Amino acid sequence: MKSKLQRILKKKNKSKLVCLTAYSKNISKILDKYCDIVLVGDSLANVLYGMKNTHEVTLDMMIKHTISVKSGLKKSLCVIDMPLNSYSNIRLAKKNAKKAMKQTKCDAVKIESNNKNFSIIKALVKSNIPVMGHIGYTPQFKKKFKVAGSSEIEEKKLITEAKRIEEAGAFSIVLECVKKEAAKRITKNLKIPTIGIGSSSSCDGQILVTDDILGLSSFKPKFIKQYINLNKIIEKGIQKYRREVIKKKFPKDINSY
Ligand code: KIV
Repeated sequence: MKSKLQRILKKKNKSKLVCLTAYSKNISKILDKYCDIVLVGDSLANVLYGMKNTHEVTLDMMIKHTISVKSGLKKSLCVIDMPLNSYSNIRLAKKNAKKAMKQTKCDAVKIESNNKNFSIIKALVKSNIPVMGHIGYTPQFKKKFKVAGSSEIEEKKLITEAKRIEEAGAFSIVLECVKKEAAKRITKNLKIPTIGIGSSSSCDGQILVTDDILGLSSFKPKFIKQYINLNKIIEKGIQKYRREVIKKKFPKDINSY
């Protein structure tokens, strides 16, 4: 594990980190060939479960999906997103992060910052649990979507927050929907890699939700680029299956016992 983390840290200022989310083995097996980091994001709330936000996600849901994702990975670093209320104090955070690491055999946990929980990151790192931070738009703590770091004051606050997360021992930090100038300054000010989502190419790496770039979800804010429309491809396959069943072209003899 140490070597996987070291590889990630060493990439700063050298080559960009390629990161994506996965919720199951079929996808993680493909991502493993191309990604440095695979995150089991609590975005599965909206993307898979049709929930209105990530607040109802439980640790057990995250653990089940991470076990599936991890079983498809050989080389990528596997990170589990700790759900809301699973790390609200040091004792709970340690108990739950240890449980998540043990049951899933993942490599690290991700924790959203509320600009106060630095001691929790510190305590986890001290217990040998690698932590990825997350600042900017943090869906667990922010009620409404807002681009972060738009004013000079906000930018300064974000830089301080990122620095404190680094000082607490995090090995990397996600910048979600952070204004590009602020993302550039944060990246310059940190020794650990920044991983951007909607935060410009200045970050040391990029992450997106896989379902969004494959056209499986209908979520299309401007920071997402859809690389393929899997919805259309799947629909074509389903239509063909329906036609063949109705016209009795499927199953054939070779499909029957
Ligand atoms: O939950 C998630 O998928 C995330 C990424 C968008 C960074 O936190």
